[in-house]
Amino acid sequence: MESIQAIKQRFGIIGNDPKLNRAIEKAIQVAPTDISVLVTGESGVGKESIPKIIHQLSHRKHGKYIAVNCGAIPEGTIDSELFGHEKGAFTGATSTRSGYFEVADGGTIFLDEVGELPLTTQVRLLRVLENGEFIKVGSSKVQKTDVRIVAATNVNMFEAIKKEKFREDLYYRLSTVDINIPPLRERKDDIHLLFRKFASDFALKYKMPTIKLEDDAVPILQKHRWNGNIRQLRNVAEQISVLEQNRTINASTLHSYLPSGSNNLPAVINNSKSESDFSNEREILYKVLFDMKSDLNDLKKLTMELMKSGNAAEVEKDNESLINKIYGDKQKENYTDEFEDLEVMAIPEKTEDHFDPEDKNQTLDKYHFAEEIEEEETLSLHDKELELIKKSLERHQGKRKLAAAELGISERTLYRKIKQYDL
Ligand SMILES: Nc1ncnc2c1ncn2[C@@H]1O[C@H](COP(=O)(O)OP(=O)(O)O)[C@@H](O)[C@H]1O
Ligand SMILES: [Mg+2]
Repeated sequence: MESIQAIKQRFGIIGNDPKLNRAIEKAIQVAPTDISVLVTGESGVGKESIPKIIHQLSHRKHGKYIAVNCGAIPEGTIDSELFGHEKGAFTGATSTRSGYFEVADGGTIFLDEVGELPLTTQVRLLRVLENGEFIKVGSSKVQKTDVRIVAATNVNMFEAIKKEKFREDLYYRLSTVDINIPPLRERKDDIHLLFRKFASDFALKYKMPTIKLEDDAVPILQKHRWNGNIRQLRNVAEQISVLEQNRTINASTLHSYLPSGSNNLPAVINNSKSESDFSNEREILYKVLFDMKSDLNDLKKLTMELMKSGNAAEVEKDNESLINKIYGDKQKENYTDEFEDLEVMAIPEKTEDHFDPEDKNQTLDKYHFAEEIEEEETLSLHDKELELIKKSLERHQGKRKLAAAELGISERTLYRKIKQYDL
């Protein structure tokens, strides 16, 4: 049997916490069997390594490994994704399609966020688990498959059962063995280790010297709550790696990267970041939405003019600056391109004292990109837009030209917004 250390190395798992080791040990032990495993733990704790370990150490390792995020597939198509469908089973089913359970015959399926499965799908899943049988959507023919299931969830399954969102029989069938991955806050000794690993990875990635924590910063890292667990720790390490010029990070700098309110320190909170111009990721996202909305309005205007006049050349001549704004600015194009992948999140850089409205790159350079979006509160685009405009006008002592340049909109649009919001 491969040792726990060897497995960690093979799967890039960092940490020595006994509870983590126990989870890996359990995975190694159950791997050669066909037992169903349920991996539990908060989001970002590292659940996804477990099914990979199980598959790779099982006799199925030459078979397929398919990871399905049950929460990401729309309810209307999930049965067809998992079990396939017959031609004509529903509108758009132009041909027969195999589902994951057919394709992964002889292999392993990882059902991530299994708690999100609709009840009807749960019935089908129970049947596969019990006797390997399934029926394609729109078919009456029973098919057989030999698939090992590993599922994962970050929701409390007992609650889900109580609320009748999850079938109790399926739960017991799935969780023959339960492997729990503890939250990062319960693996305190691993936190700095992981941080150093991520710091070194990002130094390589961004070709910069590795950031290093001063002694007084380490306890701050260890006492933080890390609601987003390792995923959040990695994001923080990435932000600091990209943004900090001084590569030795002291306590107050580190503080400025940790969301306040969610840590368990009574401490001196350095608010410099939250007071900065674009103090949090959400604000940047609003700005992007705001920009997109403004582009959309410009496009609407252009389309309307084209429809009315029917003379493209004339419209082009009359709207030269608008067209330049929408299509012509190379930087602007790159900027929007970065948002094509919906998994990106913008990270604010530190406050800039100077702002040159002529230099559009400056606005663009304020953003860096990392992964994942965390949603915390209900968003109100209007409020945020209003706030952005107000802040920008304040910063530029009411000078609309400068504010418009900073917000990336035309003066005319800004004027309209000022009227609209009665500023
Ligand atoms: N022990 C670990 N060592 C190194 N990286 C880890 C560890 N645990 C998790 N990660 C990384 O953290 C991120 C989140 O892990 P993931 O397995 O996707 O979490 P979950 O599925 O529990 O939400 C991934 O990028 C993963 O590679
Ligand atoms: Mg996951």
